[in-house]
Amino acid sequence: MAEFPRRNRRRWCDILPLVGISGLSFTVLTRFLKWCLVVLFQTQSPMKNIKSLGIIILLPISNLLPASGYAQGVAAAAALNTTCPISGKPANPSITTEYEGVRYAFAEEACRQKFLKDREASLYQKLGGKAAIDAAVELFYTKVLVDNRIKHFFDDVNMNKQRRRQKEFLSAAFGGPVPYTGKDMRKAHANLSGLNETHFNAVAENLQKTLEELKISKELIGQVMTIAASTKDDVLNKPKK
Ligand code: HEM
Repeated sequence: MAEFPRRNRRRWCDILPLVGISGLSFTVLTRFLKWCLVVLFQTQSPMKNIKSLGIIILLPISNLLPASGYAQGVAAAAALNTTCPISGKPANPSITTEYEGVRYAFAEEACRQKFLKDREASLYQKLGGKAAIDAAVELFYTKVLVDNRIKHFFDDVNMNKQRRRQKEFLSAAFGGPVPYTGKDMRKAHANLSGLNETHFNAVAENLQKTLEELKISKELIGQVMTIAASTKDDVLNKPKK
């Protein structure tokens, strides 16, 4: 399967082998400083001066660190893809393009052109890309979790993971450059006791309402619903035709 990269921009620090470790420390340090800030804000300490002093010192530092070219360079350098997402051949780091803030490298120019063409034609891009899919999935699960017909299926489900996987699944199904890392549809739903067509229709209804609320055009909603319907036999674990 084609490998998709995360962040891209290469900087001077590409060549330093230990830079990844230092970058990690930077990230950890930044997170720690931000955590300290949160604790300070939440503390009902009578020592108001100490609290204010802490905020004055920590806020600028914690914001400066991730903004530094060093930290960004480190994060970026770690991840330019080495396999062309189109041909599966080794990627040439000088043939690249950027899509949704991610730089992708290709084996040859023709692959780069195909990638761009595919993106342009994709339902993913027509819907509004990552931001739109993320928003839709968030709203979709808000509806699902209050829908008495189906909410019980999600009682013991880690919803953060569920939202993340659903975003990936739909993005990939709509032609976005996002790999799906979850289970296949049959395995994912195999243990949902009593799951039947009524439940499937309820999920589909929530998806359609979500897209309507987000003012997606009728034509695109039709395309999304066709893709959703194509998963029905697998979700309901019906025998393969
Ligand atoms: C359009 C149809 C559907 C799609 C595209 C879909 C997609 C997904 C995806 C991507 C996952 C994550 C798999 C993983 O964690 O690796 C998942 C899990 C799940 N789905 Fe669906 N699903 C559909 C229909 C349904 C229906 C009809 C129900 C029940 C009403 C349902 C309930 C669940 C539950 C409870 C899980 C979590 C299972 C677990 O963590 O063990 N899904 N689904």
